[in-house]
Amino acid sequence: MKYDFDKVVDREGTHSVKFDARNYFFGTEDLIPMWVADMDFPVPVEVTEALKQRADHPLYGYTMRPDSYYNSFIQWLEKRHGWKVEKDWILFSPGVVPALNFIIQAFSKPGEKILIQPPVYHPFFFSVENNYREMVFNPLRYSNGRYEMDFDDLEKKLPGVKMILLSNPHNPVGRAWTAEELKKMADLCVKHDVLIVSDEIHSDLSLPGNKHIPVASLSDEIAAGTLSCMAPSKTFNLAGLSTSSVIISDKEKRTSFEEYLERFHISGGNVFGMVASEAAYLHGEDWLNQVLGYVRDNFEYLDDFLKKNLPEVHLTPAEATYLAWIDFSALGMEGDELKSFMINKAKVGMNDGRTYRDGGEGFQRMNLACPRSTVEEALNRIEKAIKGK
Ligand SMILES: Cc1ncc(COP(=O)(O)O)c(C=O)c1O
Repeated sequence: MKYDFDKVVDREGTHSVKFDARNYFFGTEDLIPMWVADMDFPVPVEVTEALKQRADHPLYGYTMRPDSYYNSFIQWLEKRHGWKVEKDWILFSPGVVPALNFIIQAFSKPGEKILIQPPVYHPFFFSVENNYREMVFNPLRYSNGRYEMDFDDLEKKLPGVKMILLSNPHNPVGRAWTAEELKKMADLCVKHDVLIVSDEIHSDLSLPGNKHIPVASLSDEIAAGTLSCMAPSKTFNLAGLSTSSVIISDKEKRTSFEEYLERFHISGGNVFGMVASEAAYLHGEDWLNQVLGYVRDNFEYLDDFLKKNLPEVHLTPAEATYLAWIDFSALGMEGDELKSFMINKAKVGMNDGRTYRDGGEGFQRMNLACPRSTVEEALNRIEKAIKGK
């Protein structure tokens, strides 16, 4: 089946955060929302069918996740990423951000050090700060328009650190870390006995020509010190169904995390989340491949547009995610100036780069999981605003 992602679906009035919380986040509704990370594309048709079928049985009581739920995910991981996991390794969490907080609480104590690689997804900071842990920064290096891990700095900072929160692939800079990079990072963590918490929520969104490497697939030794967070939410646009997983192969860590999670009585999850997840992993691959092709073309459109019309603005080369990390620093706007310019002059609602802290100044993050016409309109507005400045 050929999906038509050019079609604009009206999301206003659906209580969508991206559309209906514009006033709250930007102080105005008069802008194109290209911020929070969900897609403006309808989910695979099989997912909607499975949800309708389940909804037709009008009892929504406590429900168990069946073997078929686990098998669909296990088969997906092996097929897409060559990673073999066992059912017992998969623990439920209602979201990846909740999982990060649970992991921090279960595996560290207040005051202990947690390492983060900014510019990075902002709830990483909140999960460290809100749990009163000490944040250690190992900023990514940005040279010649490419982001890399700073291994020398990492090695210096790892002694005494309890865990690293890794964004793999990296939001917002769009890197799909290579096996070599991940191995280098992970070997250092093993050496210094640092737990790797790998947020792989964007794992299925490697753009054509790039590959996702689950850190825990690198070796048994690395897997023993790694907790991997995954979900169908970004992959298939199911974030509102609050269904995700923490994969832990090490029995001791798994048991202690299971005991910790039990306190919150959340393992039941949501009946619709499990139905959608299974249907998506079983039937959504073709849809996803089409989405990735479409998003890649959106990236190309954006890059060509900038080169032609706004050569001083640069798109960071995108390897994964549908989030474009755009360098507007040549415009010379500082502090709130760039943010306010995009909201009030260009009328395009992106995530301000400073949200992701060190290294984010001068950047905006634009969500490209939307019809081409939305990208076109946004870029025309930005060009007009910059040229009329
Ligand atoms: C790196 C990363 N982790 C986690 C999340 C959100 O996870 P959840 O909605 O499952 O809490 C996002 C959403 O944008 C993300 O980019």
